Amino acid sequence: MYILGFESTCDETAAAVVKDGREVCSNVIATSVAEQALYGGVVPEIASRRHAENISAVAEKALADANLTMADIDAVAVTFAPGLIGAVLVGVNFAKGLAYAAGKPLVPVHHLRGHIAANYLTHPDLKPPFLCLVASGGHSHIVLVQDWCRYQILGRTVDDAAGEAFDKVARTLGLPYPGGPSVSQAARTGDPHAYRLPVPHVQGKYNVSFSGLKTAVVNEVHNAQQRGETVSVPDMAASFQERIAQILAKKLLAAAADNGAKTVCLAGGVAANGRLRQLVNDGVQKLGAKVYLPELKYCGDNGAMIAAQGYYEYLDDNLADWTLNGLPTLEIDYR
Ligand code: KG4
Ligand code: ZN
Repeated sequence: MYILGFESTCDETAAAVVKDGREVCSNVIATSVAEQALYGGVVPEIASRRHAENISAVAEKALADANLTMADIDAVAVTFAPGLIGAVLVGVNFAKGLAYAAGKPLVPVHHLRGHIAANYLTHPDLKPPFLCLVASGGHSHIVLVQDWCRYQILGRTVDDAAGEAFDKVARTLGLPYPGGPSVSQAARTGDPHAYRLPVPHVQGKYNVSFSGLKTAVVNEVHNAQQRGETVSVPDMAASFQERIAQILAKKLLAAAADNGAKTVCLAGGVAANGRLRQLVNDGVQKLGAKVYLPELKYCGDNGAMIAAQGYYEYLDDNLADWTLNGLPTLEIDYR
């Protein structure tokens, strides 16, 4: 079964064809990230406009790269929530129009479910149940994936998302957007123990909090400036990365141990972080469980992950009618 999947919740306009939820036939991404970097973050209006300009070409290329036409496609999947609403609506309306015109079923996909499904593309033997940390620019959740379309949230951030914290710290240190890759890059030559950053205390055993950590970095930089000194960017980047990766890994491993998880995964843009991958990989192996990490190219937003989850949503009879709307917020366990 061939699914054509669309993703447009942030600054990537993406379309992909995936066979039976596992085999990527094409994966096309147009991104406005370079333009957004000029402003130090995503300007929603710009994201929406670039989606509107690019989505037809991205769709055509996804079909052409897969050597298929709409006649070969069995269903159209689209991210309908959560995300920047103007951006989401471009994908939803394009997918809806295409599915309507071609007489194909329309499958609504939750963005974070898509991120989790990125793991199915890399690991043919992976199947629920498993435990997953989903960390992106807007969300940080520890989720028990009970079945293909059944989820239980065990923990979450009580303030900033992990990716958001990377982006804000990057800005404070004068590093470019997006912050994850630029902080990681700067951290390579830094000392992770140079700055003692706080470990946040938060209610809820598997919850996390990053706003205090971010403020500690901001204060450290400002205090240094007032003393006429400068903070070492590589050392601060490394110290911050070490702290946030330790926090995320510790909570995930505690949830894995307490719940007797046999399989643990990472998902979302922050899953590309090398230090986090290393800590989770080592920690899960120590627990005697299996660890699955998504390929780097499927960590960030893409259409293939949406088409992959779309396959399982289709099998679960989660189909949309022509009134499908986009939503800016929606819990992963909405259904
Ligand atoms: O999942 P994603 O592509 O989009 C959202 O759904 O938000 O995640 C984007 C986030 C950004 O905040 C970005 O800074 C972060 O993922 N990110 C990283 C890395 N690569 C991207 N964070 C840490 N380390 C990375 N290597
Ligand atoms: Zn995402």
